[in-house]
Amino acid sequence: MAVGDDLLAAVQEVAREAGDLLRRSFRRPMSISYKGLANLVTDADTASERLIRTGLERILPGVSFLGEESGGDLSVSGQTWVVDPLDGTTNFAHGFPWFCVSIALVEESQPLLGVVYHPMMDECFIARRGSGAFCNGQRLAVSTIPSVAESLLTTGFYYHKGDELSRQVTLFHRIHQKAQTIRRPGSAALDLAYVAAGYFDGFWEKGLAPWDVAAGFLLVREAGGVVTDYAGAPVSVDTAETLATNGLIHHALRILLRGT
Ligand code: IPD
Ligand code: CA
Ligand code: CA
Repeated sequence: MAVGDDLLAAVQEVAREAGDLLRRSFRRPMSISYKGLANLVTDADTASERLIRTGLERILPGVSFLGEESGGDLSVSGQTWVVDPLDGTTNFAHGFPWFCVSIALVEESQPLLGVVYHPMMDECFIARRGSGAFCNGQRLAVSTIPSVAESLLTTGFYYHKGDELSRQVTLFHRIHQKAQTIRRPGSAALDLAYVAAGYFDGFWEKGLAPWDVAAGFLLVREAGGVVTDYAGAPVSVDTAETLATNGLIHHALRILLRGT
């Protein structure tokens, strides 16, 4: 299926509907269950995914679906919708207004189309491969900050703690010594959208899932940024490591992450 402006507009509409549902449910009574010790799921996660899945099936019947809550696989031969119905669940569950909806259409593990909707700011970030990235009609461009020392960076940590967390904190400490400062807002898809918009200069995180990064990767690339793993190798949406920057600080951050 060719990815045109009509498809992008229809997907944007679905993302906005799901975001409206999240906004209406925000700071209201909700049921919460646990997928792991620190990994929550609320009834808003499942309701949002149901809405998105139905909407996408109406737009493009028969396309494979991979969603955080209902599962699925990346199709090997064809296209797959890759969906996080609520990225930032922990924030949402605690009443912290920083979360989004992320939808991407992926082929051969690379995003063709991506939409990230931030309902509390009414910001809809959209991109189509080869056609640029936009937010609410404005073209996006990554920042022009040339050095780590002048950069506002963002990151996130594994749900799994233990030794891996210690390694992440060591990296955080090493990078914080060099950067202007670092944030840990709690939504990887929004971290990437904000790199695309130039508000953050760089982002890194290990252990993300395809639904966290698929739309955001495309936003960053289409806004002129660079996305690789910590060693600087090209990534697909099922990568274990993500480093996304404005390009200018990429090498320096990569050295800090890998030490070589
Ligand atoms: C999480 C958020 C968080 C990141 C975690 C993700 P969820 O997604 O993106 O920022 O640090 O790794 O799992 O569980 O809120 O959809
Ligand atoms: Ca997520
Ligand atoms: Ca989620």
